[in-house]
Amino acid sequence: MKEKSKILEDKIAQAKLGGGQKRIDIQHSKGKLTARERIHFLLDEGSFEELGALVTHRTKDFGMGKQIFYGDGVVTGYGTINGRQVCVFAQDFTVFGGSLSETHAEKICKVMDMAMKIGVPIIGLNDSGGARIQEGVRSLGGYADIFHRNVMASGVIPQISAIMGPCAGGAVYSPAMTDFTLMVENSSYMFVTGPNVVKTVTNEAVSSEELGGAMTHATKSGVTHFTAENDLECLGQIKELVGYLPQNCEDTPMSLPYSLNTEIREKLETIIPENANKPYDMRHIINEIIDESPFFEVHKHYAENIVVGFARLAGKSIGIVANQPMSLAGVLDVNSSKKAARFTRCCDCFNIPLLVLVDVPGFLPGTDQEWNGIITNGAKLLYALSEATVPKVTVITRKAYGGAYDVMNSKHIGADLNYAWPGAEIAVMGSKGASEIIFRKEIDSAEDPEAKLKEKEEEYADKFANPYSAAERGFIDEVILPKDTRRKLIKAFALLENKVVQLPKKKHGNIPL
Ligand code: COA
Repeated sequence: MKEKSKILEDKIAQAKLGGGQKRIDIQHSKGKLTARERIHFLLDEGSFEELGALVTHRTKDFGMGKQIFYGDGVVTGYGTINGRQVCVFAQDFTVFGGSLSETHAEKICKVMDMAMKIGVPIIGLNDSGGARIQEGVRSLGGYADIFHRNVMASGVIPQISAIMGPCAGGAVYSPAMTDFTLMVENSSYMFVTGPNVVKTVTNEAVSSEELGGAMTHATKSGVTHFTAENDLECLGQIKELVGYLPQNCEDTPMSLPYSLNTEIREKLETIIPENANKPYDMRHIINEIIDESPFFEVHKHYAENIVVGFARLAGKSIGIVANQPMSLAGVLDVNSSKKAARFTRCCDCFNIPLLVLVDVPGFLPGTDQEWNGIITNGAKLLYALSEATVPKVTVITRKAYGGAYDVMNSKHIGADLNYAWPGAEIAVMGSKGASEIIFRKEIDSAEDPEAKLKEKEEEYADKFANPYSAAERGFIDEVILPKDTRRKLIKAFALLENKVVQLPKKKHGNIPL
């Protein structure tokens, strides 16, 4: 028996070495952890249980029969993060560059199927040279098997993808279909076609980092939601993210213990500048509303005119969507609409209540916006917020103009509770623009057109540059003092905790894509 146990121990020891010490050293020299080290830092100490450690590939071509590595380039299994179960796979770059063979794909599919069966998040740590070239179409089939599972799992269990090395070609489409993507700066990249193909086809000279590095995807494409300086920071972000999410779509996110503390926040009275055209940082308002634990911003560097992310309010997980007056005066445009729509749908499918903070002067005008489909893309956010059935609460801090007022979680599209601060301006447009249109004749024929415009502007502002016209019609449930906002929101979300909404029977809606 001892001898048989020794055989097992030897095999496991071999599996743990992946592609061997030399390749592990190369991995470390690039500032990257190995697949097993990553899992070790991601999961609770000692919680990881590996599945399929002794799986090997089945290829005989190109001398592959002589190159057998236990695990076949991916470590799969399960464990816990802060005591909550998750399933995980980590590609091992030391074995054939983490490339995806038929068996490698089967291992990933198996652990995804397990996550679906038991209703827990699936976390993929990607570090791969793509399709296993020696296996041809079998490898491509393996990718498609994973893609199909990504789609089936979408909205059922949280799916998180960390890109911690190469991720190119078809490989990019699995992360793209998961809920959240994280990338490590300077050691990861994602692209459909690499710099060499780009040079051949379009004659553009571009480096891997420029084409598909972490900051490129964080700022330009929005493909990644988070960036990290190194592997450890990336793994820390995954742990934090998982803390805001439920285990599956039938679960609710975990609550943290909470005891009443200063619910009146005087500082909220001082953040908005006297001059309505001056910017301020919406994050300062968010920080004054939420619990001590910091705001966990998603898509921080992309479409900065809207801020989205997770926070805790009275210990409960909430999602926040907020216009950001610091960037482009907080207008809605193509990218901010897409960003906020995606986040809204993510919160909705995982039962995370939504808080929408509004300070929006309207949609961004211009040919660039129109030709890039601000109509279709703005509609995404309108659709996503209308469709969401989680508790939805709105606070208008300052401007809510035009169609953007409707879009930003107005009462009309199904918000449960709508609050406005006393300085809120809820109107079709700003007083100057409005007066120039509706009083044009009167202004033009006046002895002093400038004075007339001013007088008309004041008249319009008196009527609409306040929250009361909307409150009188019930579009706003309550005009509240800024310092009371936290207290009101805690009560509002407690009220809505057991909200139930039945949507009309349908196969699925047809969101404008
Ligand atoms: N299939 C099979 N083996 C692969 C592979 C793949 N797709 N990608 C990398 N490998 C192997 C390499 O042969 C090498 O094996 P070795 O350790 O036995 O020498 C090992 O993985 C590491 O690759 P290497 O090229 O030395 O690493 P690198 O860090 O210099 O470069 C890549 C990484 C991903 C840029 C490079 O390996 C590459 O271009 N791979 C092919 C990408 C591709 O075209 N994939 C198929 C289409 S999706």
